[in-house]
Amino acid sequence: MPATVIVGAQWGDEGKGKIVDLLAQDSDLVCRYQGGPNAGHTVVVGDETYKIRQIPTGVIAGKRCAIGAGCVVDPAVLISELDELESRGHETKGLVFVSGNAHLVMPWHIALDGARERRLGRLQIGTTRRGIGPAYADKATRIGIRVQDLLDPKILRQKLELAVHEKNVWLQRVYELDPFDVEEVVATQLGYAERLSPYVSDTSLLVDRALQGGERVLFEGAQGTLLDLDHGTYPFVTSSSPIAAGAAVSFGIGPNRIDEVVGVSKAYVTRVGEGPFPSEIEGPAQERVRELGREFGTVTGRDRRCGWLDLVALRFAVRVNGITSLALTKLDVLSSFAELPVCVRYALPDGSETDEFPAHQSDFHHCRPVFETLAGWKAELDGEALPPAARIYVTFVEDALGVPVTLVGTGAGRESVLALG
Ligand code: IMP
Repeated sequence: MPATVIVGAQWGDEGKGKIVDLLAQDSDLVCRYQGGPNAGHTVVVGDETYKIRQIPTGVIAGKRCAIGAGCVVDPAVLISELDELESRGHETKGLVFVSGNAHLVMPWHIALDGARERRLGRLQIGTTRRGIGPAYADKATRIGIRVQDLLDPKILRQKLELAVHEKNVWLQRVYELDPFDVEEVVATQLGYAERLSPYVSDTSLLVDRALQGGERVLFEGAQGTLLDLDHGTYPFVTSSSPIAAGAAVSFGIGPNRIDEVVGVSKAYVTRVGEGPFPSEIEGPAQERVRELGREFGTVTGRDRRCGWLDLVALRFAVRVNGITSLALTKLDVLSSFAELPVCVRYALPDGSETDEFPAHQSDFHHCRPVFETLAGWKAELDGEALPPAARIYVTFVEDALGVPVTLVGTGAGRESVLALG
């Protein structure tokens, strides 16, 4: 379809990278619509491994790639990715486009992110400490520095002076940290400006023209639905809009331009960071899923918490994103289990049960999962056809959600994706 959004249907890390890679092969333009270097994709092509955080991975397949206004960009990270891609023989100029309206992650954002988490102690969010929250906060309070500011040294200096002056007060007085030196910051950012200015673009116009010209545009979200600032499990969320509508906002296109929304969900659930997690596995099975699924963070290396598939949360993801089909990744990780609990409802503190995601935070914090147990298949997935019990697992998900599962992840390799008819 001409305009497709790929959205994480859980708490991020659903294996979107693999699905994006697959769909990017048939796309002309790949667009990242939110987040910044808090996301991480590992792409393996033959013997080559790429770890990418800012640029859509479609660039490796030689696709045009855009970073939208709804993203935050750490210029140091972006430049190191551009350098690496170029040193490994990939073209970047004329292929990578960065919205001039995207905001920059500054070194004080990173310092403040870490300092705030430390100060919060056991109440911390568990952020990636990449400066994401503080960068989006400055955007919202209208003191952020945008990518397009890099194009004008005078404006850049003016804004940096103002920002450093204010942030130093916070760093020193609130968090007892070292201040930043204005001249040093200005010199560094002017250096970045020179490297990045050829990539600064009007990405709204770029996407509009691509769609007008009948090109296929893929929008990829980072993180996932339950980390959405408005609709996720606040405050344990990221600071942007991973839900599908975020694609239209970030790229400045009408929502009616989007044709398909592909939700990506693991066949189980993982979550990094703090916050309630109803279907979190109790006992040694959690460690077993973590080991089998290699559930350690790409960006932070932290252990991911693991849970059984949660259909209440997935039903919510289908609703708030308008998911039209689902990719169920890492089904193979469940292959050795004799029984597979699936969370079908939540039991609420007042004794009632619901199959809809609770709107009130206290209900979500205190709910208990109600599981139905399905039979495992106890066989490896070969990528040809699913064993009957695995097919029943997939059909159970489809029936509960009312959307088709069109892709299933059957193994670690990039090619291990089975299309279901
Ligand atoms: P931040 O985005 O670094 O501010 O972190 C806010 C929350 O989002 C924390 O719970 C993080 O663990 C989570 N988070 C951010 N990026 C990712 C991701 O790529 N995968 C999974 N969780 C993420």
